[in-house]
Amino acid sequence: MRAWRCLQRWLGGREHSTARSGGGGGVGANGARAAPHAEALAAIVRRRRAARSFDPDKPVPGDVLRECLALSARAPSGFNLQPYRVVVVQDAYVRKELAYSMLGGNIRRVLRAPVNVVFLADLEPWRLLDRVVDLERETGKTEMELAALRSDASFFVGWRGASASRDQDAEPAAAAKAAFNTIFRGHDEELGRLGGAAQTAEMGLKRGLMQALSHITQTPTINSSAEAWAFKSSMLAAQNFMLAMAAHGYDTSPMEGFDARRVKEALSVPEDRFSVPLIISAGVADDGIVTDAEDSKDNASPRFPFEEVFCADSFDFPMYRRAPPANKDMENRK
Ligand SMILES: Cc1cc2nc3c(=O)[nH]c(=O)nc-3n(C[C@H](O)[C@H](O)[C@H](O)COP(=O)(O)O)c2cc1C
Repeated sequence: MRAWRCLQRWLGGREHSTARSGGGGGVGANGARAAPHAEALAAIVRRRRAARSFDPDKPVPGDVLRECLALSARAPSGFNLQPYRVVVVQDAYVRKELAYSMLGGNIRRVLRAPVNVVFLADLEPWRLLDRVVDLERETGKTEMELAALRSDASFFVGWRGASASRDQDAEPAAAAKAAFNTIFRGHDEELGRLGGAAQTAEMGLKRGLMQALSHITQTPTINSSAEAWAFKSSMLAAQNFMLAMAAHGYDTSPMEGFDARRVKEALSVPEDRFSVPLIISAGVADDGIVTDAEDSKDNASPRFPFEEVFCADSFDFPMYRRAPPANKDMENRK
């Protein structure tokens, strides 16, 4: 209700202000697709900001929390492996334990927030591969597509679940991928005993080989670590959660200032398998900062100039830069 009221107030009479924001689907006169949710999304994105403090007496209703968590998991992920787990802390005792794993101002934030959501990145995503293949099979993927998924995913994330389905492929990069998968698949047990070190070594080898082969053909870019790979998808899920909470009229605060070893201990997280990319406190902010979209523009945190961040077709050409003014000096020289 809160989210709806907030959105209605912000939209108040604006729904039909532009052709692209009008309701309904379909295609507009200029061929552009109608964008019935564009203004609502802009309002939600602007409403989200890192809350400094929370009112401990204002809880997040269970159904709202569940919906936001479910939306969090709708985020895209590499090979749809969904390489994360999420621990939702609401119990007062556990909250205290978590709070004392935090640093500086984050301690108070966690103590006051009614909900603290701990995102955990799975450093062994190959363990998820069989289940994802099964899920994808249920959606009607062919066995060939599933074999390709298995082969490609295992090349990116580790040796487990590798498939020889691409061994016959003549492309140099694909042949190297198949060879790697076959070698590492053949030694699952030994490599498993070596744990993370073996996986890091494997990723390093693949990375070097792919970089060398890249001069001959396009090759997959292997992330520098399993953590880097898993963090990407985990952070997208975390962002979905924050936006969903904002849409419901609640506030969030993303935090990286914590002692991950203590966090894992407090929440009984398997030490080796998971890493902690982000913890998000959630609730109703009581820091006095206005968040309703219309007013919050004045309170928004600063951003680098648009032209500095966004480039057009080339790294060194700012997007939407005005045409350079006519250079009188150059003209005079002619
Ligand atoms: C990965 C990440 C880690 C962050 N860690 C902390 C933190 O430990 N403590 C904190 O007060 N804010 C933290 N923030 C919040 C940022 O300071 C904040 O997002 C940034 O200043 C922009 O402000 P805004 O979110 O209100 O737009 C973090 C944000 C991100 C994305």
